[in-house]
Amino acid sequence: MSVTIKSTREIELMREAGRLLAIVHEEMEKAIKPGISTYEIDKLGEEVIRSFGCIPSFLNYNGYPASICVSVNDEVVHGIPSKKRILLEGDIVSLDAGLIYKGYHSDAARTHGVGEISAEAKQLIEVTRQSFFEGIKFAKEGNHLHDISNAIAAYCEGYGYGVVRDLVGHGIGTALHEEPQIPNFRQKRRGVKLMSGMTLAIEPMINAGDYDVFWLDDDWTVVSADESLSAHYENTVLITNGEPEILTLTEKEKAAFARL
Ligand code: MF3
Ligand code: CO
Repeated sequence: MSVTIKSTREIELMREAGRLLAIVHEEMEKAIKPGISTYEIDKLGEEVIRSFGCIPSFLNYNGYPASICVSVNDEVVHGIPSKKRILLEGDIVSLDAGLIYKGYHSDAARTHGVGEISAEAKQLIEVTRQSFFEGIKFAKEGNHLHDISNAIAAYCEGYGYGVVRDLVGHGIGTALHEEPQIPNFRQKRRGVKLMSGMTLAIEPMINAGDYDVFWLDDDWTVVSADESLSAHYENTVLITNGEPEILTLTEKEKAAFARL
């Protein structure tokens, strides 16, 4: 397998998959408040995905038991939704969602605060989000994949944060995970050359403390080893010969990106 280049028709379908997933995230964000369970967020996300006639791609993926990954505080990714896990004021929560539209995947993640959160938590969320935008300054035909990785890493390390190494971004298309792997930490080599028509899920996972993580006994939930807060920001991105197209932003977010 090598990196796939999408045709104009495939790009149309991925654009729609991305547009719909942005709405799923918008709806989930509205529901975030102290007292809601992570189970309820999962059910809401799944309901919105299905209302579009789409399939939640995470459900049953390698046996994953839900549609949305809901990771709280020191949970990095792949938190399993539970009726018993109630969000509290001051928590941060990472929502990762994916859907399939007419055979094509989109994948995106956001971290939100629950009610009022600490200045430290706010900064972690904002730096993680911004690191994605620092990375995609290099997401252009002719550059190399690891130009993106190195830009994300440099930006986050500037804040003393730990860039998670055990999980990476990925190509995406007719499968959730395609080549190439997209590390967020510093790389010695430049990686594959970027070409128009590649679609990539770029997803910095950033710890306020050390980069080390481990897996809980449920075999899914990834947590920071030092129990520091962790944030996640992900979009599905189309490489072009100019500005990249971020497929999983809302219309409002797209307008803000265009003004950058
Ligand atoms: N968004 C995750 C990724 O990019 C997928 C979650 S794994 C699953 O790899 F099992 F929950 F689907
Ligand atoms: Co992903």
